[in-house]
Amino acid sequence: MSDTPTALAGYFSGDRMEIGLRYAYRPEFVPLLLDYLGASPGQSILEVGCGTGFLTRLLARTLPDNKITALDSDTNLLDIAVEMQARDGVGGRIKMGQGNAYRLPFPDNAFDLVTSHRLL
Ligand SMILES: C[S@@+](CC[C@H](N)C(=O)[O-])C[C@H]1O[C@@H](n2cnc3c(N)ncnc32)[C@H](O)[C@@H]1O
Repeated sequence: MSDTPTALAGYFSGDRMEIGLRYAYRPEFVPLLLDYLGASPGQSILEVGCGTGFLTRLLARTLPDNKITALDSDTNLLDIAVEMQARDGVGGRIKMGQGNAYRLPFPDNAFDLVTSHRLL
């Protein structure tokens, strides 16, 4: 795995990259997802491979008392994620970082919940 940014971000806007997710994540699905994740107020949450940060923003919006951290290897996608977070008014609540899922830059047990969405 390389830490080199992909060209994806140069061709598509964040909104376009997330278009399918907006259809898939209907409002009635969100409580089911949070339940499945075992997410509860106050937890510190890490999302690995956040891309444009669709799930990151969803978590920040629906869990306002949680500390959310998100990491991706692609700095171009991280830039887009930061822009979209600011646009959605949740930027101040999310800590973003570049890193590799195979070498997470955090000590063991640093988070209450770690999730990953479509990272293959
Ligand atoms: C299909 S995208 C999914 C992005 C986001 N989780 C979502 O569901 O919209 C996969 C993401 O995983 C990131 N990624 C792939 N391998 C990674 C690794 N080893 N460490 C961190 N991020 C990685 C890519 O840069 C990309 O943003």
